[in-house]
Amino acid sequence: MKAIVYTRYGPPEVLEFKEVEKPTPKDDEVLIKVHAAALNYGDWASLTGTPFLVRLMGGGLLKPKHKILGMDVAGRIEAVGRNVKQFQPGDEVFGDISWCGRGAFAEYVSVPENVLALKPANISFEEAAAVPVAAVVALQGIRDTGQIQPGQKVLINGASGGVGSFAVQIAKYYGAEVTAVCSTRNLDIVRSIGADQVIDYTKKDFTQNGQLYDLIIGVNGYHSLSDYKRALSPEGTYVCTGGTLPQLFQSMLLGPLMSKKGGKQLRSLGSVQQSQKDLVVMKELLEAGKVVPVIDRRYPLSEAAEALRYLGEGHAQGKVVITM
Ligand SMILES: NC(=O)c1ccc[n+]([C@@H]2O[C@H](COP(=O)([O-])OP(=O)(O)OC[C@H]3O[C@@H](n4cnc5c(N)ncnc54)[C@H](OP(=O)(O)O)[C@@H]3O)[C@@H](O)[C@H]2O)c1
Repeated sequence: MKAIVYTRYGPPEVLEFKEVEKPTPKDDEVLIKVHAAALNYGDWASLTGTPFLVRLMGGGLLKPKHKILGMDVAGRIEAVGRNVKQFQPGDEVFGDISWCGRGAFAEYVSVPENVLALKPANISFEEAAAVPVAAVVALQGIRDTGQIQPGQKVLINGASGGVGSFAVQIAKYYGAEVTAVCSTRNLDIVRSIGADQVIDYTKKDFTQNGQLYDLIIGVNGYHSLSDYKRALSPEGTYVCTGGTLPQLFQSMLLGPLMSKKGGKQLRSLGSVQQSQKDLVVMKELLEAGKVVPVIDRRYPLSEAAEALRYLGEGHAQGKVVITM
C-alpha cells in the first residue's frame, strides 16, 4: 500500500511517499481502507519532535517510534479480527487513532475497534475525518471541564481553527450565547457557524474591554491567566484546551492556585480523553445537523508534506484534510 512515512524528526521534507506493507488486523482489530484523514497539531509535533515533551511521552527519544502519522481517520472496514464484535466488513467508520499508534496517512490502517464509531450517514468521509480529535477536545473542554449551562455567556478564543470551529457550534448546541475571537479574515466564517458576537483580535483585546463571560475556552491565542481571570464573571470558568506549552503548563500548575472556591475557576482540559462514547455524541450532533465540520483545504495523500507545512503556519480556517 502507499503511505507517508518518516524515520527521523524534522520539517515536512523528511516525509516520504512510498510503498509499505499492508497491515493485517490482530484479533481485536479492524482493517480500515482509509478514505480520508485529517491533520492535527499533534501530527506537526510528532513530525518535528518538538516540543521535546512529545518524544518523552512515547513518541521516541531520538527517532519517531511510529513511522506513519495521522490521528483522524474515516474509511470503510475491509476485514475484522476474530474477537471484533462491534463492526463488520463494509461498515463506514471514523475515529481518533492517536491512542493506538496513529497511521491514517496511508491507504490502510489496522486499529482496535474501541477507538471507532460508525460514520455519520449524512456527511462525506472527508467531513467525518475532520471531526474526531478537534470536536472531542471541544466537547470535553466545554461540557466536562467547563460544565457549560444554557444561557451562559461563552467566549471562544481562537474560534476559527479546527478545535475552535467545533467549540463555537458545540457551545451553541448547549444553549450558550457565544462570542468568537478570531482575526479579520475569519469573522464571516465564525458568524456562519453560529457565533452571536465576534471580536477581531487584531483590533480589540477582549480581556481589556470590561465585558465579562461565564465560560472562556482558550483554544488558541496568547493571554496571561490574569487576563483571562479579569474577563470572567464572578463565578466564571476559564478552560485552557490548547495554546503554547508555557500556556498549558501555566494553566495546569498556576490555575488551581489562582482559582477560588465558589469564585472564578481557571482550569485546564489537559489531554483529551479517548472516548468512543463522545465520538457517538458527535455522530449524533452531526446527523442532527447541529454541528457541521468546517474544511479549509484538501490535499491528496501524495501531498501530505505540503498539507503539514500549511498546518504548521498556524492559520488554518477549520480543518485540513487528506483525501485518498
Ligand atoms: N488538549 C488536547 O488534547 C488537544 C488536542 C488537540 C489540539 N489541542 C490544541 O488546541 C490548539 C488548537 O488546535 P487547532 O487544531 O484548532 O489548531 P489550528 O486549527 O491550527 O488553529 C489555527 C487557528 O488558530 C487561530 N489563531 C492563531 N493565533 C491566534 C490568536 N492569537 N488568537 C486567536 N486565534 C488565533 C488562527 O486564526 P487566524 O489565522 O485568524 O490567526 C487559525 O484559524 C493547539 O494548541 C493544539 O495543540 C489540544
